[in-house]
Amino acid sequence: MGKLWGGRFTKQTNHLVDEYTASIGFDQALAEEDIQGSLAHVTMLGKCGIVPQEDVETIKAGLQTVLDKIRRGEIEFSVADEDIHMNVEKNLIAEIGPVGGKLHTGRSRNDQVATDMHLYLRKRVALLVGMLHELQKSLIGQARDNLDTIIPGYTHLQRAQPILFAHHLMAYVSMFQRDIERLMDSYKRINVLPLGAGALAGTTFPIDRHFVAEQLQFDRVYENSLDAVSDRDFIVEFLSHASIIMMHLSRLSEELVLWSSTEFNFIELDDAFCTGSSIMPQKKNPDVPELVRGKTGRVYGNLMGLLTVLKSLPLAYNKDMQEDKEGMFDTVATLEGALQLFAPMIATMKVNKSRMREAVNQDFSNATDIADFLVGKGLPFRQAHEVIGKTVLYCIQQGKYLLDLTMEEFQQFSPLFDDTIYEVLRPETVVNARNVYGGTATDQVAEAIKRGEVLLSMTEQWLAEHV
Ligand code: ARG
Repeated sequence: MGKLWGGRFTKQTNHLVDEYTASIGFDQALAEEDIQGSLAHVTMLGKCGIVPQEDVETIKAGLQTVLDKIRRGEIEFSVADEDIHMNVEKNLIAEIGPVGGKLHTGRSRNDQVATDMHLYLRKRVALLVGMLHELQKSLIGQARDNLDTIIPGYTHLQRAQPILFAHHLMAYVSMFQRDIERLMDSYKRINVLPLGAGALAGTTFPIDRHFVAEQLQFDRVYENSLDAVSDRDFIVEFLSHASIIMMHLSRLSEELVLWSSTEFNFIELDDAFCTGSSIMPQKKNPDVPELVRGKTGRVYGNLMGLLTVLKSLPLAYNKDMQEDKEGMFDTVATLEGALQLFAPMIATMKVNKSRMREAVNQDFSNATDIADFLVGKGLPFRQAHEVIGKTVLYCIQQGKYLLDLTMEEFQQFSPLFDDTIYEVLRPETVVNARNVYGGTATDQVAEAIKRGEVLLSMTEQWLAEHV
């Protein structure tokens, strides 16, 4: 059999053209979705009396055989057949004869490929929500275990104010929650059926698009046939959500890399998630977070790539749009790889509480609190700031920390100081003084963990309905 579209041609295609235009090398990843869509389409053709029921049964059985063979790796895809759609059709016809040619009635590869992509992304997005949820569980688990662990909080990567390590971890839970919600929201725009748009204008056959949508569990059908085959917004949206997820993962990665350095020594990643050096025997490298940080670049690249492919493209389908696939597949694989590793890596991470404590004791991150203390005694904040600035400078010159100062030394700077200052300056007091909603006080963080657990169960409910 020659090309499925060979009728109009008098010459064979140049083999370099075959190779250049073929997408089978990568779109074979859509085989399951392609056949799933075809099964629904042909069922509808039977129901609407467009193809005789007996042919419909033959075609469905044939499609099932082709699918089984693909799953068993028994089908050799051919570049001459261009893409997954024509490879499946060719194999169907080889399996059941010319009646297989009735499958493509009232359909075009343009609405077919769009349908495949919607089916594919719908499934992946739900799986990714599940993976983000696992990561949140690991973070919340570590937060629960570290409700009494204080670390210096940073701004400008300079010690700022002490915070609970649990509070720091829960910040990431909030970030990944936004990611989950973005993906859930995008599901509404992914779960729309393009099939029935034909090549661009609809079809002359009396098809029933809503019946197909129902069978494939799509919530809606595309309103406009040109939009149905031209729209790749849902992929752009996915790539941008993926970019934000990677950006979040890269920030966490950077902190893990810093924290596991000898200079910080705040955490130790489990041996199972680290690698060694081929030359320096003492080394244990945080390759996973480093690589996640690095792979963030390719995900951003995939987003820019597709935006650029689509820029200025006239309606409706253009072959350029075949370029939507590799970046999407690559992004899904990159995200899945990162998230699958991050959940257990965070869960097994060892937290060096004593080292964190040492860091907190040896800094000035309680300085804001003595300023606030003087404000409590009636001094205007700006003057209090000045007094404490001088006190800190004195400490630095004397090689002391604020808690080391005697009452005499304190009173050199202000007569308003009294003995209660030593309690005010304790890291626990400093942390627990920030008892505002969303703050770092132990009670507040315990509440945040409870709210996080509620979010976990809400996501579980969503997953039960969507995976
Ligand atoms: N392989 C094509 C793609 O991925 C399928 C659609 C082809 N349509 C066409 N008219 N050539 O975009």
